[in-house]
Amino acid sequence: MNGPATHADLYQAARRSIPRFLFDYVQGGSFDELTLARNRAALEAVKLRQRVLTAIGDIDMSTALFGQTLAMPFMLAPIGMAGMLSRRGEVQAVRAARAQGVPFILSTASVCAIDEVSATGIPFWFQLYMAKDRGFVIDLLGRAKDAGCPVLVMTVDLPLPGPRYRDQRSGLSGPASLWGQWIRWRSIFAHPGWAVNVGLRGRPHALGNVAPLMNGRVRLKDFLRWSGQNFDPSVSWKDLEFLRAHWPGPMVIKGILDVEDAKIAADIGAEGIVVSNHGGRQLDGAPGTAQALPDIAAAVGDRLTVLADGGVQGGLDIIRMLGLGAKGVLAGRAWAYALAAGGEAGVAAMLSRVAAELRTGMALTGCKTIGDIGPQVLAES
Ligand code: GLV
Repeated sequence: MNGPATHADLYQAARRSIPRFLFDYVQGGSFDELTLARNRAALEAVKLRQRVLTAIGDIDMSTALFGQTLAMPFMLAPIGMAGMLSRRGEVQAVRAARAQGVPFILSTASVCAIDEVSATGIPFWFQLYMAKDRGFVIDLLGRAKDAGCPVLVMTVDLPLPGPRYRDQRSGLSGPASLWGQWIRWRSIFAHPGWAVNVGLRGRPHALGNVAPLMNGRVRLKDFLRWSGQNFDPSVSWKDLEFLRAHWPGPMVIKGILDVEDAKIAADIGAEGIVVSNHGGRQLDGAPGTAQALPDIAAAVGDRLTVLADGGVQGGLDIIRMLGLGAKGVLAGRAWAYALAAGGEAGVAAMLSRVAAELRTGMALTGCKTIGDIGPQVLAES
């Protein structure tokens, strides 16, 4: 049998490969999941303008972002607990990203700690949350600096976690009841491959960056509890200014969906923003990111680098987002499913597919370089 080819194939393969409570954690959104669906719908509504006989010849998909050259304007978005999807998953993903020439962004809530990922010798970007314990934040910042992370991605749309009802149903969150444990164990036994590869051989299952704070006692479901208790709802732009002052390299603020917020991000000196609603996992009812992006890019695109995520599944989505004003695109679930389904090779194959799709899309929209992709690639609706 041939391997998964499309995003939809990877979704199915991931569903078969890992326990339900992990799959649901990745695929789910918050509240009624309206924004989750809107992200995809908004992208699909963006029509591309087909151009032919443009003598396109060689296509150059490389781009420069924050002083780095990327093979294409695509990044692996930070994902919490990715190391539960495949054995030492973040290490596998950073290797695949490196092989394909795109950045991997390590989540604060990763299984593999900064040190474990940096032991690969591969540079990666680091994503940070503002926790109540500012000492913890400064410490992580220092560790990211020591590891040589070139870019800091500061996530600001999670002052407290959105309600993820799938996680309650699947037994991942909610009270530590016998019933919850039973549902989890049942889904582990239903996935013996995962149980051996990750459950037994993928230990420790702690959140590597957070474990030292909790005396090492971080179990699988503790991320959700930790985030609920330790994310800081009092966080403000002042804190971001503070971090800006403590981080020497480029700082990217992730979770901007409003023009006014984008302007403040530019005012405090951020080098970039990610137009994002956290993959539909926070404020349900918010617009799809492809809807919010054009106004934001028009307002601040000349002052900082605008990136975007939300519903991105393939190379044509990169063209759509760039046509709407982004300079680069992040995808989370796309690599999470690929990792769950096929580990490092799965992520590498997904990235190759995205690159091939981007190339074809550029040829058919008449773009020879990434810089050529602008509003002219969009068809009137
Ligand atoms: C964490 O960032 C999550 O969305 O679960």
